[in-house]
Amino acid sequence: MIPNEEINLIRNKANIVDVISSYINLEPKGKNYFGVCPFHDDHNPSLSVSPEKQIYTCFVCGVSGNVFSFVKDYENITFPEAVKLVGIKIGHNVDYKISENKMNHEYYEIMNLANKYYLNNLKSKEGLFAKEYLNKRKIFDETINEFNIGVSFNDNNLSKLLINKKYTEKQIIEIGLANKSDNLYDVFRNRIMFPINNEKGDIVAFSGRIYNNEDTNKYINSKESIIFKKSNILYNYDKAKSEAKKSKEIFIVEGFLDVIRMYTIGVKNVVATMGTALTKEHALLLKKLNVKIILLMDNDEAGEKSTLSAGEELLKYDINVAVVRISGEKDPDDYIIKNGENKFKEVIKNPISFFDYKLLYFKKNKDLNKSKDLASYINAIIDELNNVNDDILKEVTINNLNKEFGVDKNLLYSKLIKKEVKLKEYKIVKKPLKLNKNKKISETLIYMMLKDVKYIRKYEKDLGYIPDKEYGQIANDILAFYKINKDFNIADFISFETNNEYYETVLRIINNYEYNEPIYDEFDDYILFIYKWIKEEQINTLLKELKTESDINKKQEINDLIIKLKRECENND
Ligand code: CTP
Ligand code: MN
Repeated sequence: MIPNEEINLIRNKANIVDVISSYINLEPKGKNYFGVCPFHDDHNPSLSVSPEKQIYTCFVCGVSGNVFSFVKDYENITFPEAVKLVGIKIGHNVDYKISENKMNHEYYEIMNLANKYYLNNLKSKEGLFAKEYLNKRKIFDETINEFNIGVSFNDNNLSKLLINKKYTEKQIIEIGLANKSDNLYDVFRNRIMFPINNEKGDIVAFSGRIYNNEDTNKYINSKESIIFKKSNILYNYDKAKSEAKKSKEIFIVEGFLDVIRMYTIGVKNVVATMGTALTKEHALLLKKLNVKIILLMDNDEAGEKSTLSAGEELLKYDINVAVVRISGEKDPDDYIIKNGENKFKEVIKNPISFFDYKLLYFKKNKDLNKSKDLASYINAIIDELNNVNDDILKEVTINNLNKEFGVDKNLLYSKLIKKEVKLKEYKIVKKPLKLNKNKKISETLIYMMLKDVKYIRKYEKDLGYIPDKEYGQIANDILAFYKINKDFNIADFISFETNNEYYETVLRIINNYEYNEPIYDEFDDYILFIYKWIKEEQINTLLKELKTESDINKKQEINDLIIKLKRECENND
């Protein structure tokens, strides 16, 4: 547990605008800052950040919160981890040990043991053959150690070792290191073993490459498990991220061996997917770095296709994408081996924009001297231009087409769809909640309390209770917070409520009213309304009592009370 005072101290020192800016671009507009919301699929600046209140709200998907909830959701970590991380950003060290749940912890232990075991294999006499293979591919000890490369043999010794260490068969199978028929047997056999790390650097999987048997799958990967999902792992991301932040760019390649080769020649800002297409999760992981992404896929048709699809996926998240294509050799690894590191480094210095890459791609297999091919080429470019927001790029491209092929500029412009119309069509993800009058008034009242301590005092003095478990508790939490801190602000209150079962409701109320300011003059009317609601609730309880009561005198008393309350209710109207 991190003490509340410390949480509030960090929150106070960390400016939410600075912290969110380190993840996404924010532009000032009026009192607030705006950016593309990272919590839903969007291109429009729907996320608003208030420096005054130190909260953010998205009017499309409805998220809101303070600096900690942003970092928590963006980094996919827990609340205390987010407090610790924001602390680091402002130079305040929080004494809090991040503890994984025990189950996962044991899986990581198993993976570490397995890795040690594979490493030892490679150092043993039996590992000589694998070592020779690696050396033949110009992978030497330094690289082997850097990437923790090992080897598996054709036996079941890893399973035996793990059982001896008291891990269960179930665990070993679940993590993908063994399977079972009659007996437990090792999955990875006779393969060069590459450990796969998650973002934090823990081993979550292995990939095994054949080295002495050509007639089977070149690579096999660990099956997916609770600690390994292919779609959100990028090979070498853990090491590459700091390098990428330094150089402001990161390369994406297709193969492990490409990553390893580039790393050994000093290009360390490089990652690879796990033999799959680039997913949304990958894009979000990369977006976090806030750097330019350079696609460096294999020199074949598949590489061309994956350049296009990866580029499109990244564009969805407003990521700056560029492309490098190599020629002559199959992949970056082969290219470096064949042409040397200097020539390779020259090539990767000159990426072209993803847009220009697409223009080149449209030219492929077309003879632009033929009218039909030329027309389809120009039409493809127009389609493409209709998907970009950059007016200058449109202008430049149309000028070029005009110069190169003599096509009339006005004709080209007439083919462009007016973008303004499209821009406004953002989809509202947030579903408007249908609330009954009691709930609506409770929420408005609570929002007013969040906005101004004056209403907290009024609530305490005139009401002190809302006859609904959820709203009653939130209102009383606000009051309690105010009493403890002798002051109130929304941002710290959000931290205060993190573990409350009604946390989401608090955030929803904040988000909702940030865009629909309530009428503050109506506060007293709302108090009266809730007062009446309390009486109605009392009447209901009394009616129930009346049913079970047998004493005639008592029955009369209850009846009188009901009549009195009903009259009061009517007077209230
Ligand atoms: N891959 C895979 N399963 C295969 C083949 C490939 O999972 N049967 C994945 C691996 O992640 C591999 C990537 O696809 O790194 C690219 O494949 P490829 O270019 O064939 O491999 P390289 O990494 O270039 O390996 P090598 O140079 O040793 O052939
Ligand atoms: Mn290769």
